[in-house]
Amino acid sequence: MDSRELRDLFEVVPVATIVVGPDGRVVAANAATAAMFGHDPTGRPFVTVVRHPAVNRALDRVQQPVPPSGANPPASRGTARLPATISAQGRDLSAVITVSPLVVKGGRGAAVVIEDSSGVEQAEQMRRDFVANVSHELRTPLTALMGFIDTLRGPARNDPAAQQRFLDIMAREAGRMNRLIADLLSLSRVESDERRRPAETVDLAGLIRSVAATMGPAARESGVTVTLHGTQDAVRLPGDHDQIVQVFHNLFENAIKYGGGQLTVTLRRIPHEPLLRGPGWAAEVADNGDGIEALHLPRLTERFYRVDTHRSREKGGTGLGLAIVKHIVARHRGRLKIDSEKGRGSRFTVILPETAASPAPPLSATARPDGNRPV
Ligand SMILES: Nc1ncnc2c1ncn2[C@@H]1O[C@H](COP(=O)(O)OP(=O)(O)OP(=O)(O)O)[C@@H](O)[C@H]1O
Ligand SMILES: [Mg+2]
Repeated sequence: MDSRELRDLFEVVPVATIVVGPDGRVVAANAATAAMFGHDPTGRPFVTVVRHPAVNRALDRVQQPVPPSGANPPASRGTARLPATISAQGRDLSAVITVSPLVVKGGRGAAVVIEDSSGVEQAEQMRRDFVANVSHELRTPLTALMGFIDTLRGPARNDPAAQQRFLDIMAREAGRMNRLIADLLSLSRVESDERRRPAETVDLAGLIRSVAATMGPAARESGVTVTLHGTQDAVRLPGDHDQIVQVFHNLFENAIKYGGGQLTVTLRRIPHEPLLRGPGWAAEVADNGDGIEALHLPRLTERFYRVDTHRSREKGGTGLGLAIVKHIVARHRGRLKIDSEKGRGSRFTVILPETAASPAPPLSATARPDGNRPV
């Protein structure tokens, strides 16, 4: 490669890379550096670009003069790699910074590579939160079960009526644990499938009709009227039958649990859905319940997120339903939209591509309802 090609290569490397000259000034910085800092720092003293004492000490060390021949070079003159929180565009950024000696313009310069590690840290934090949440969710019913076992062995030993009552509660708590484990397994299965497109074809209209029929008794019991629009004729599209059933099962269940007596499902074709870059089918599940305040909307599909934890738990919810929905919709390269206003009901719209041929939009854009954070 000639120097022009090397220069072009330096420019396109997607990691912020800075060349520091013997005078401590930035000789060159690539496009990733400009993107990170919001400007090109070429010509500026390096200490004013990355204001971090340990990084600047590492830079001083690699620029130390070579000791007289015969003496052992200090070990610290080699490459240094250190985690650092630096300031970029007014924000704190977690990074791993590598400072390596580099001959620049015949003198002792350095190459500084700044890897943004905030994504890794965020993922690590999410994993810790997830484990803490799962433990907490399992511990609540488990504590209840253990308490009732003690009661049955002790004070309620000779009280058949109390025993019956406690056994009912224990069965409910054990059922809750069972549901939680089933939902967790389902979530992990959906996540591991997410990059594999569904190979089957489903009839979306028939599937919605059958979920409505299955949920009929639960709806009647809660005094909810279910109305379907646009589901009389078959609508064939690529999809995983069981997963799409799961999507509508959860959306119907939510509308029954948190809605206000009317559940309306409308299926319609969208000739061109910009985010799917092609035709799609939108299935809208609307209720006339209390609705959801805007501040909760972006977080609704996060695992274990509930607007009213007490109400959800009381109704046997695990808070994983919408997280599972979101991942299934993402696997189908579809979109999930949530519209709601306090006091005006909620509308959950699932948009699925009509054909498998439509180019896949980026997963991140489709996986979330507008503005939602990743789960
Ligand atoms: N139709 C709706 N109307 C009002 N709030 C809703 C509606 N659907 C969902 N929510 C809110 O969103 C939260 C998350 O829903 P999600 O389906 O993920 O969990 P869940 O219903 O609590 O539990 P699970 O689905 O696991 O049984 C619910 O706890 C509820 O607060
Ligand atoms: Mg739910």
